[in-house]
Amino acid sequence: MSEDKPVALRLEIVARWGKARATLLHLPHAICETPMFMPVGTQGTIKGLTSEQVEDVHCNLILGNTYHLGHRPGPEVMKELGGLHQLMNWKRNLLTDSGGFQMVSLLQLANITEQGVVFRSPHDGSEMVLTPEMSMQIQNCIGADIMMALDDVVSTVTTGPRVEEAMHRTLRWIDRCVEAHKRPHEQNLFGIVQGGLDMDLRSQCLKGLVERDLPGYAIGGLSGGESKHHFWRVVDKCAAELPENKPRYLMGVGYSLDLLVCSCLGVDMFDCVYPSRTARFGVALVKTGTLILKHREFSKDFRPLDDECQCMACRNYTRAYLHSLVVQKEQLAGQLLTAHNLTYQMDLMRGIRNSIIEGNLDRFAQKFIDLQFPNGD
Ligand code: GUN
Ligand code: ZN
Repeated sequence: MSEDKPVALRLEIVARWGKARATLLHLPHAICETPMFMPVGTQGTIKGLTSEQVEDVHCNLILGNTYHLGHRPGPEVMKELGGLHQLMNWKRNLLTDSGGFQMVSLLQLANITEQGVVFRSPHDGSEMVLTPEMSMQIQNCIGADIMMALDDVVSTVTTGPRVEEAMHRTLRWIDRCVEAHKRPHEQNLFGIVQGGLDMDLRSQCLKGLVERDLPGYAIGGLSGGESKHHFWRVVDKCAAELPENKPRYLMGVGYSLDLLVCSCLGVDMFDCVYPSRTARFGVALVKTGTLILKHREFSKDFRPLDDECQCMACRNYTRAYLHSLVVQKEQLAGQLLTAHNLTYQMDLMRGIRNSIIEGNLDRFAQKFIDLQFPNGD
């Protein structure tokens, strides 16, 4: 890394197995062991869990969202408090997404222009623009250890010139983000590779971002309905071309098979709402797949969700109790299942990491597949 580029991270590669790597990612609030999964706390909370309970699942980095936090409590309150770490009493690392993706892809509230993401205020319906500069300003107030560039995201099922336009715009916006970012010694700005399923566009975008010598890089615009075949090929290509000495983050990916496959392809970081959202729907993630707890088969099942899991649900409660909580729509069901599902993801990532270090990732992967897909499909 050149001397004159301020960064707030250091990546130490500990071991490799094939394309996979185990690293220590030194960030301002904690050292993270990768490959790692990062739970999503959109509104400044992992729904249902206290910050202390999130620490208990051995998580060193969680996500917040610029769009939501920018509205409430808003950048002024955030700044006065000294940032989101203080607001939520979270002592470890935070990452904020830039805000545009949530509006465009999830809420369908917005349109993209060269200036920024144009959307209607949820408060009074007036038209607002989230520019790269505003996204950086809000993220500087939130104070996350990693902040994401504002990108132009198109759905993976989109084809044609719009994909190319979004890729070029993402590159133009990265320069505006770098220029507007005021705390490069404390906060790391990651660029996001776009380009849809087109390998040449992906390559161009990636090269453009790498030329800017950013502290880390994300692969965006995936997991939006494309086939696994396409998805894994884009990840493989991007991971192969990204620099060795920088962290690689695959955005919005959290199914266990994808975590394993993409770790094998050399990705270091993942985030997804899936484990916590599916918990609130009464679904537990386990080594053999999922347990849908509302099903009557669990009403007299007095085993824990997983007899090896050390989470607060598995240490203290049975599937039968969780079944009755889910059926009665008790909030506690969501809380216990969230703690369990996050623990499951953390344990899976630790298993992947340890097998990279021990040199038996192939055996780990085989065992995982045998358990998850016993019929070979
Ligand atoms: N979350 C999941 N995918 C993306 C993406 O492509 N861009 C951003 N900013 N956030 C994401
Ligand atoms: Zn558990």
